[in-house]
Amino acid sequence: MEILAHRIPEVLPAAMSVAGCRHHFPLLRQWVNGKPLVYLDNAATSQKPQVVIDAMMRYYESENSNIHRGVHTLSEKATQAYESVRGKVAHFLNAASEREIIFVRGTTEAINLVAFSYGRKALGPGDEVLISALEHHSNIVPWQIACEERGAKLRVVPMDDRGELIQEEYAKLLTSRTKLVALTHVSNALGTVNPVREMIAEAHRHGIPVLIDGAQGVPHMPVDVRALDADFYAFSAHKMFGPTGVGILYGKAELLESMPPYQGGGDMIKSVTFEKTTYSDLPHKFEAGTPNIGGGIGLGAAIDYLNALDMKAVMAHEHDLLVYATEQLGGIEAVRIIGTAPRKAGVISFVMEGIHPHDIGTILDAEGIAIRTGHHCAQPVMQRYGLPATARVSFAFYNTKEEVDALVKGLHRVKEVLG
Ligand code: ALA
Repeated sequence: MEILAHRIPEVLPAAMSVAGCRHHFPLLRQWVNGKPLVYLDNAATSQKPQVVIDAMMRYYESENSNIHRGVHTLSEKATQAYESVRGKVAHFLNAASEREIIFVRGTTEAINLVAFSYGRKALGPGDEVLISALEHHSNIVPWQIACEERGAKLRVVPMDDRGELIQEEYAKLLTSRTKLVALTHVSNALGTVNPVREMIAEAHRHGIPVLIDGAQGVPHMPVDVRALDADFYAFSAHKMFGPTGVGILYGKAELLESMPPYQGGGDMIKSVTFEKTTYSDLPHKFEAGTPNIGGGIGLGAAIDYLNALDMKAVMAHEHDLLVYATEQLGGIEAVRIIGTAPRKAGVISFVMEGIHPHDIGTILDAEGIAIRTGHHCAQPVMQRYGLPATARVSFAFYNTKEEVDALVKGLHRVKEVLG
Protein backbone atom coordinates (compact mmCIF):
# COMPACT_ATOMS: atom_id res chain seq x y z
CA MET A 1 0.00 0.00 0.00
CA GLU A 2 2.89 2.31 0.93
CA ILE A 3 4.37 1.92 -2.52
CA LEU A 4 1.04 2.12 -4.31
CA ALA A 5 0.38 5.47 -2.64
CA HIS A 6 3.31 6.89 -4.59
CA ARG A 7 2.19 5.56 -7.91
CA ILE A 8 0.47 7.77 -10.37
CA PRO A 9 -2.53 6.63 -12.33
CA GLU A 10 -1.97 4.92 -15.62
CA VAL A 11 -3.95 7.59 -17.39
CA LEU A 12 -2.11 10.75 -16.48
CA PRO A 13 -4.00 14.00 -16.01
CA ALA A 14 -3.69 16.54 -18.81
CA ALA A 15 -1.43 18.86 -16.80
CA MET A 16 0.31 17.81 -13.58
CA SER A 17 1.73 20.49 -11.33
CA VAL A 18 5.52 20.46 -11.29
CA ALA A 19 5.68 20.91 -7.51
CA GLY A 20 3.51 17.85 -6.93
CA CYS A 21 5.57 15.49 -9.06
CA ARG A 22 8.62 14.82 -6.95
CA HIS A 23 6.97 11.90 -5.19
CA HIS A 24 6.56 10.10 -8.52
CA PHE A 25 10.31 9.36 -8.45
CA PRO A 26 10.98 6.54 -5.95
CA LEU A 27 14.76 6.96 -5.98
CA LEU A 28 14.49 10.53 -4.74
CA ARG A 29 13.22 9.21 -1.40
CA GLN A 30 16.59 7.61 -0.68
CA TRP A 31 19.05 8.61 1.97
CA VAL A 32 22.72 8.56 0.97
CA ASN A 33 25.51 8.55 3.54
CA GLY A 34 22.98 9.20 6.29
CA LYS A 35 21.50 12.29 4.56
CA PRO A 36 18.45 12.74 2.36
CA LEU A 37 19.63 12.45 -1.24
CA VAL A 38 20.06 15.73 -3.12
CA TYR A 39 20.34 14.63 -6.73
CA LEU A 40 21.94 17.34 -8.86
CA ASP A 41 23.44 15.23 -11.65
CA ASN A 42 20.52 15.24 -14.06
CA ALA A 43 22.61 16.15 -17.11
CA ALA A 44 24.39 12.81 -16.65
CA THR A 45 21.14 10.92 -16.24
CA SER A 46 17.72 11.78 -14.85
CA GLN A 47 15.74 9.72 -12.36
CA LYS A 48 12.76 7.65 -13.51
CA PRO A 49 9.14 8.07 -12.46
CA GLN A 50 7.30 4.99 -11.19
CA VAL A 51 5.19 4.88 -14.39
CA VAL A 52 8.32 4.30 -16.48
CA ILE A 53 9.58 1.57 -14.15
CA ASP A 54 6.11 -0.03 -14.13
CA ALA A 55 5.75 0.05 -17.92
CA MET A 56 9.03 -1.78 -18.38
CA MET A 57 8.26 -4.27 -15.63
CA ARG A 58 4.85 -4.95 -17.15
CA TYR A 59 6.44 -5.63 -20.53
CA TYR A 60 8.91 -8.13 -19.08
CA GLU A 61 6.27 -9.71 -16.84
CA SER A 62 3.54 -10.16 -19.40
CA GLU A 63 4.51 -9.23 -22.97
CA ASN A 64 8.17 -10.12 -23.41
CA SER A 65 8.62 -11.43 -26.92
CA ASN A 66 10.55 -10.49 -30.03
CA ILE A 67 8.98 -7.96 -32.38
CA HIS A 68 8.27 -7.94 -36.13
CA ARG A 69 8.90 -11.68 -36.23
CA GLY A 70 6.12 -13.77 -34.80
CA VAL A 71 2.48 -14.35 -35.61
CA HIS A 72 1.91 -15.42 -32.03
CA THR A 73 -0.07 -13.23 -29.68
CA LEU A 74 2.82 -12.15 -27.47
CA SER A 75 4.94 -11.08 -30.43
CA GLU A 76 2.03 -9.11 -31.83
CA LYS A 77 1.45 -7.42 -28.47
CA ALA A 78 5.12 -6.54 -28.10
CA THR A 79 5.30 -5.27 -31.69
CA GLN A 80 2.24 -3.12 -31.15
CA ALA A 81 3.54 -1.72 -27.84
CA TYR A 82 6.98 -0.94 -29.31
CA GLU A 83 5.76 0.50 -32.61
CA SER A 84 3.19 2.69 -30.86
CA VAL A 85 6.13 4.45 -29.21
CA ARG A 86 7.41 5.49 -32.63
CA GLY A 87 4.13 7.33 -33.14
CA LYS A 88 4.42 8.94 -29.70
CA VAL A 89 7.95 10.13 -30.47
CA ALA A 90 6.86 11.52 -33.86
CA HIS A 91 4.08 13.44 -32.14
CA PHE A 92 6.35 14.56 -29.30
CA LEU A 93 8.83 16.07 -31.80
CA ASN A 94 6.16 17.17 -34.29
CA ALA A 95 7.85 15.07 -36.99
CA ALA A 96 6.02 14.81 -40.30
CA SER A 97 5.97 11.02 -40.20
CA GLU A 98 6.80 7.97 -38.08
CA ARG A 99 9.18 6.94 -40.87
CA GLU A 100 11.46 9.74 -39.71
CA ILE A 101 11.88 8.23 -36.24
CA ILE A 102 14.76 5.77 -35.87
CA PHE A 103 15.29 3.87 -32.62
CA VAL A 104 18.93 3.82 -31.56
CA ARG A 105 20.87 3.14 -28.36
CA GLY A 106 21.16 6.81 -27.50
CA THR A 107 22.43 10.17 -28.72
CA THR A 108 25.92 8.79 -29.32
CA GLU A 109 24.67 6.06 -31.63
CA ALA A 110 22.36 8.51 -33.42
CA ILE A 111 25.29 10.79 -34.25
CA ASN A 112 27.48 7.85 -35.25
CA LEU A 113 24.71 6.64 -37.56
CA VAL A 114 24.64 9.99 -39.38
CA ALA A 115 28.44 10.31 -39.41
CA PHE A 116 28.96 6.88 -40.89
CA SER A 117 25.97 6.72 -43.21
CA TYR A 118 25.46 10.30 -44.38
CA GLY A 119 29.16 11.14 -43.80
CA ARG A 120 30.44 8.29 -45.95
CA LYS A 121 28.12 9.25 -48.75
CA ALA A 122 28.46 13.02 -48.65
CA LEU A 123 32.06 13.64 -47.63
CA GLY A 124 35.03 13.70 -49.96
CA PRO A 125 38.54 15.13 -49.94
CA GLY A 126 38.50 18.86 -49.18
CA ASP A 127 34.95 18.84 -47.78
CA GLU A 128 34.24 20.12 -44.29
CA VAL A 129 32.04 19.26 -41.33
CA LEU A 130 31.33 22.20 -39.05
CA ILE A 131 30.84 21.61 -35.32
CA SER A 132 31.15 24.00 -32.38
CA ALA A 133 33.47 24.61 -29.46
CA LEU A 134 30.67 23.56 -27.09
CA GLU A 135 30.30 19.97 -28.26
CA HIS A 136 30.29 16.81 -26.18
CA HIS A 137 32.82 14.21 -27.35
CA SER A 138 29.96 12.29 -28.97
CA ASN A 139 29.46 15.17 -31.41
CA ILE A 140 33.20 15.53 -32.09
CA VAL A 141 34.79 12.10 -32.35
CA PRO A 142 32.40 10.46 -34.89
CA TRP A 143 33.03 13.44 -37.22
CA GLN A 144 36.77 13.23 -36.72
CA ILE A 145 36.70 9.55 -37.67
CA ALA A 146 34.46 10.18 -40.70
CA CYS A 147 36.56 13.15 -41.86
CA GLU A 148 39.78 11.19 -41.50
CA GLU A 149 38.36 8.32 -43.50
CA ARG A 150 37.11 10.59 -46.31
CA GLY A 151 39.95 13.13 -46.43
CA ALA A 152 37.60 15.85 -45.16
CA LYS A 153 38.24 18.51 -42.53
CA LEU A 154 36.60 19.28 -39.21
CA ARG A 155 36.01 22.98 -38.56
CA VAL A 156 34.93 24.47 -35.24
CA VAL A 157 32.77 27.52 -34.46
CA PRO A 158 34.56 29.29 -31.59
CA MET A 159 32.93 30.55 -28.40
CA ASP A 160 33.47 33.63 -26.27
CA ASP A 161 34.41 33.77 -22.58
CA ARG A 162 30.78 33.50 -21.50
CA GLY A 163 30.38 30.25 -23.39
CA GLU A 164 28.35 31.63 -26.29
CA LEU A 165 29.09 30.68 -29.88
CA ILE A 166 30.38 33.61 -31.94
CA GLN A 167 27.76 33.97 -34.64
CA GLU A 168 29.89 36.15 -36.95
CA GLU A 169 32.51 33.38 -37.00
CA TYR A 170 29.82 30.79 -37.65
CA ALA A 171 28.60 32.74 -40.69
CA LYS A 172 32.16 32.94 -42.02
CA LEU A 173 32.76 29.20 -41.59
CA LEU A 174 29.75 28.22 -43.74
CA THR A 175 31.17 27.77 -47.24
CA SER A 176 30.63 25.67 -50.32
CA ARG A 177 32.98 23.10 -48.75
CA THR A 178 30.70 22.59 -45.72
CA LYS A 179 28.72 19.37 -46.11
CA LEU A 180 27.08 19.26 -42.68
CA VAL A 181 26.75 21.33 -39.50
CA ALA A 182 26.49 19.42 -36.19
CA LEU A 183 25.59 21.48 -33.11
CA THR A 184 24.44 20.88 -29.60
CA HIS A 185 21.08 22.34 -28.60
CA VAL A 186 22.22 22.83 -24.99
CA SER A 187 25.80 22.51 -23.74
CA ASN A 188 26.09 19.70 -21.19
CA ALA A 189 29.20 21.28 -19.67
CA LEU A 190 28.11 24.93 -19.39
CA GLY A 191 24.35 24.98 -19.93
CA THR A 192 24.49 27.43 -22.86
CA VAL A 193 21.34 27.21 -24.99
CA ASN A 194 22.37 27.72 -28.60
CA PRO A 195 20.12 29.71 -30.96
CA VAL A 196 19.72 26.58 -33.07
CA ARG A 197 16.71 27.78 -35.03
CA GLU A 198 18.62 30.80 -36.33
CA MET A 199 21.79 28.75 -36.88
CA ILE A 200 19.86 26.14 -38.88
CA ALA A 201 18.30 28.89 -41.02
CA GLU A 202 21.75 30.35 -41.67
CA ALA A 203 23.14 26.95 -42.75
CA HIS A 204 20.10 26.34 -44.95
CA ARG A 205 20.76 29.62 -46.79
CA HIS A 206 23.88 27.81 -48.02
CA GLY A 207 22.00 24.54 -48.63
CA ILE A 208 23.80 22.78 -45.76
CA PRO A 209 21.94 20.23 -43.59
CA VAL A 210 22.15 20.49 -39.80
CA LEU A 211 22.22 17.84 -37.09
CA ILE A 212 21.22 18.91 -33.59
CA ASP A 213 22.45 17.01 -30.53
CA GLY A 214 19.35 17.35 -28.38
CA ALA A 215 20.46 15.19 -25.43
CA GLN A 216 20.24 18.15 -23.06
CA GLY A 217 17.40 19.83 -24.97
CA VAL A 218 14.37 17.50 -24.83
CA PRO A 219 14.29 17.06 -21.03
CA HIS A 220 14.01 20.81 -20.49
CA MET A 221 12.04 22.40 -23.32
CA PRO A 222 9.44 21.55 -25.94
CA VAL A 223 11.18 20.58 -29.19
CA ASP A 224 9.46 20.95 -32.55
CA VAL A 225 11.74 19.61 -35.27
CA ARG A 226 9.66 21.15 -38.02
CA ALA A 227 9.61 24.60 -36.43
CA LEU A 228 13.40 24.30 -35.97
CA ASP A 229 13.67 22.88 -39.50
CA ALA A 230 16.34 20.49 -38.14
CA ASP A 231 17.53 17.91 -40.66
CA PHE A 232 18.57 15.51 -37.90
CA TYR A 233 17.80 15.66 -34.17
CA ALA A 234 19.27 13.16 -31.70
CA PHE A 235 18.44 12.43 -28.07
CA SER A 236 18.63 9.78 -25.34
CA ALA A 237 15.73 8.46 -23.28
CA HIS A 238 17.69 8.28 -20.04
CA LYS A 239 18.17 12.03 -19.74
CA MET A 240 14.42 12.60 -20.14
CA PHE A 241 13.17 10.30 -17.37
CA GLY A 242 13.27 7.16 -19.48
CA PRO A 243 15.60 4.14 -19.37
CA THR A 244 19.22 3.84 -20.48
CA GLY A 245 20.13 2.09 -23.74
CA VAL A 246 17.53 3.66 -25.99
CA GLY A 247 17.34 6.91 -27.89
CA ILE A 248 16.06 8.48 -31.07
CA LEU A 249 17.42 9.79 -34.29
CA TYR A 250 14.94 12.01 -36.09
CA GLY A 251 15.83 12.66 -39.72
CA LYS A 252 13.97 14.24 -42.60
CA ALA A 253 12.63 11.41 -44.74
CA GLU A 254 14.29 12.52 -47.97
CA LEU A 255 17.70 12.61 -46.27
CA LEU A 256 17.25 9.24 -44.54
CA GLU A 257 16.04 7.73 -47.80
CA SER A 258 19.18 8.88 -49.59
CA MET A 259 21.47 7.37 -46.96
CA PRO A 260 22.97 3.85 -47.01
CA PRO A 261 22.31 1.51 -44.06
CA TYR A 262 24.49 1.99 -41.02
CA GLN A 263 24.51 -1.59 -39.76
CA GLY A 264 23.52 -4.80 -41.48
CA GLY A 265 21.54 -7.67 -39.98
CA GLY A 266 18.05 -8.93 -39.30
CA ASP A 267 15.00 -6.67 -39.63
CA MET A 268 16.66 -4.14 -41.96
CA ILE A 269 16.31 -6.23 -45.13
CA LYS A 270 13.64 -7.01 -47.71
CA SER A 271 15.47 -9.99 -49.15
CA VAL A 272 18.89 -11.57 -48.84
CA THR A 273 20.78 -13.82 -51.22
CA PHE A 274 24.51 -14.38 -51.27
CA GLU A 275 24.61 -12.25 -54.41
CA LYS A 276 22.50 -9.30 -53.31
CA THR A 277 20.53 -7.87 -50.42
CA THR A 278 17.74 -5.34 -50.72
CA TYR A 279 16.96 -3.15 -47.75
CA SER A 280 13.80 -2.39 -45.82
CA ASP A 281 12.07 0.94 -46.21
CA LEU A 282 12.29 3.61 -43.53
CA PRO A 283 12.55 3.45 -40.62
CA HIS A 284 13.61 -0.21 -40.42
CA LYS A 285 16.50 0.21 -42.87
CA PHE A 286 18.45 1.71 -39.95
CA GLU A 287 17.33 -0.73 -37.26
CA ALA A 288 19.35 -3.93 -37.63
CA GLY A 289 18.93 -6.64 -35.01
CA THR A 290 16.61 -7.07 -32.04
CA PRO A 291 16.18 -3.62 -30.53
CA ASN A 292 15.86 -2.59 -26.90
CA ILE A 293 12.14 -3.40 -26.79
CA GLY A 294 11.65 -2.93 -23.03
CA GLY A 295 13.62 0.30 -23.21
CA GLY A 296 11.52 1.60 -26.08
CA ILE A 297 8.38 0.89 -24.08
CA GLY A 298 9.93 2.75 -21.13
CA LEU A 299 10.64 5.69 -23.44
CA GLY A 300 6.97 5.71 -24.45
CA ALA A 301 5.97 5.93 -20.78
CA ALA A 302 8.47 8.76 -20.23
CA ILE A 303 6.94 10.67 -23.14
CA ASP A 304 3.43 10.16 -21.70
CA TYR A 305 4.76 11.47 -18.41
CA LEU A 306 6.38 14.54 -20.00
CA ASN A 307 3.24 15.20 -22.05
CA ALA A 308 1.25 15.30 -18.83
CA LEU A 309 3.56 17.95 -17.41
CA ASP A 310 3.11 21.59 -18.23
CA MET A 311 6.42 22.16 -20.06
CA LYS A 312 6.13 25.93 -19.65
CA ALA A 313 5.94 25.41 -15.88
CA VAL A 314 8.91 23.02 -16.07
CA MET A 315 10.96 25.64 -17.89
CA ALA A 316 9.93 28.40 -15.48
CA HIS A 317 10.74 26.27 -12.42
CA GLU A 318 14.14 25.20 -13.77
CA HIS A 319 14.91 28.81 -14.68
CA ASP A 320 14.04 29.94 -11.12
CA LEU A 321 16.35 27.24 -9.74
CA LEU A 322 19.13 28.34 -12.08
CA VAL A 323 18.78 32.02 -11.11
CA TYR A 324 18.58 31.20 -7.39
CA ALA A 325 21.53 28.78 -7.46
CA THR A 326 23.64 31.18 -9.55
CA GLU A 327 23.03 33.93 -6.97
CA GLN A 328 23.72 31.63 -4.03
CA LEU A 329 26.89 30.11 -5.49
CA GLY A 330 28.07 33.54 -6.61
CA GLY A 331 27.84 34.62 -2.97
CA ILE A 332 30.38 32.02 -1.83
CA GLU A 333 33.86 33.39 -1.82
CA ALA A 334 36.21 31.11 -3.79
CA VAL A 335 33.48 29.87 -6.15
CA ARG A 336 33.89 30.86 -9.83
CA ILE A 337 31.10 29.98 -12.23
CA ILE A 338 32.29 28.78 -15.63
CA GLY A 339 29.86 29.59 -18.44
CA THR A 340 27.76 32.69 -18.01
CA ALA A 341 25.84 32.87 -21.29
CA PRO A 342 22.62 34.89 -21.02
CA ARG A 343 20.57 31.91 -22.26
CA LYS A 344 21.30 28.89 -20.10
CA ALA A 345 19.49 25.71 -19.13
CA GLY A 346 19.70 24.41 -15.56
CA VAL A 347 23.42 23.64 -15.53
CA ILE A 348 26.08 25.39 -13.43
CA SER A 349 29.73 24.49 -13.85
CA PHE A 350 32.06 25.95 -11.27
CA VAL A 351 35.48 25.75 -9.70
CA MET A 352 36.70 26.65 -6.21
CA GLU A 353 40.01 28.39 -5.69
CA GLY A 354 42.72 25.89 -4.73
CA ILE A 355 40.35 22.87 -4.47
CA HIS A 356 40.19 20.08 -7.03
CA PRO A 357 36.65 19.50 -8.38
CA HIS A 358 36.88 15.79 -7.48
CA ASP A 359 37.42 16.79 -3.82
CA ILE A 360 34.35 19.03 -4.00
CA GLY A 361 32.36 16.08 -5.34
CA THR A 362 33.64 13.71 -2.67
CA ILE A 363 32.84 16.02 0.24
CA LEU A 364 29.40 16.82 -1.15
CA ASP A 365 28.75 13.10 -1.56
CA ALA A 366 29.40 12.64 2.15
CA GLU A 367 26.56 15.15 2.65
CA GLY A 368 24.25 13.11 0.38
CA ILE A 369 24.64 15.53 -2.53
CA ALA A 370 25.29 14.04 -5.99
CA ILE A 371 26.99 16.27 -8.55
CA ARG A 372 29.31 15.51 -11.48
CA THR A 373 32.96 16.48 -11.49
CA GLY A 374 35.50 16.11 -14.29
CA HIS A 375 35.64 17.19 -17.91
CA HIS A 376 32.03 16.18 -18.61
CA CYS A 377 33.07 14.45 -21.87
CA ALA A 378 33.76 17.92 -23.23
CA GLN A 379 37.52 18.28 -22.92
CA PRO A 380 37.74 21.07 -25.55
CA VAL A 381 35.35 23.16 -23.43
CA MET A 382 37.64 22.69 -20.42
CA GLN A 383 40.69 23.55 -22.57
CA ARG A 384 38.98 26.78 -23.69
CA TYR A 385 38.96 27.87 -20.03
CA GLY A 386 42.41 26.42 -19.24
CA LEU A 387 40.89 24.00 -16.72
CA PRO A 388 41.30 20.22 -16.35
CA ALA A 389 37.85 19.86 -14.81
CA THR A 390 34.90 21.61 -13.16
CA ALA A 391 32.23 20.69 -10.65
CA ARG A 392 28.79 20.70 -12.24
CA VAL A 393 25.29 20.81 -10.82
CA SER A 394 22.42 20.13 -13.21
CA PHE A 395 18.73 20.42 -12.43
CA ALA A 396 15.54 18.63 -13.35
CA PHE A 397 12.03 19.92 -12.65
CA TYR A 398 11.86 17.82 -9.46
CA ASN A 399 14.70 19.74 -7.78
CA THR A 400 13.89 22.36 -5.16
CA LYS A 401 15.31 25.56 -3.68
CA GLU A 402 15.83 23.64 -0.43
CA GLU A 403 18.19 21.35 -2.34
CA VAL A 404 20.11 24.38 -3.60
CA ASP A 405 20.37 25.53 0.04
CA ALA A 406 21.76 22.09 0.98
CA LEU A 407 24.31 22.44 -1.84
CA VAL A 408 25.39 25.87 -0.58
CA LYS A 409 25.78 24.48 2.94
CA GLY A 410 27.79 21.58 1.48
CA LEU A 411 30.10 24.00 -0.35
CA HIS A 412 30.73 25.88 2.90
CA ARG A 413 31.68 22.52 4.39
CA VAL A 414 34.09 21.96 1.44
CA LYS A 415 35.71 25.32 2.25
CA GLU A 416 35.97 24.43 5.93
CA VAL A 417 37.63 21.10 5.20
CA LEU A 418 39.88 22.06 2.27
CA GLY A 419 39.87 25.83 1.85
N1 ALA B 1 26.78 13.48 -21.26
C1 ALA B 1 26.47 13.20 -19.91
C2 ALA B 1 26.88 14.32 -18.98
O1 ALA B 1 26.97 15.44 -19.39
C3 ALA B 1 26.96 11.89 -19.46
O2 ALA B 1 27.14 14.08 -17.82
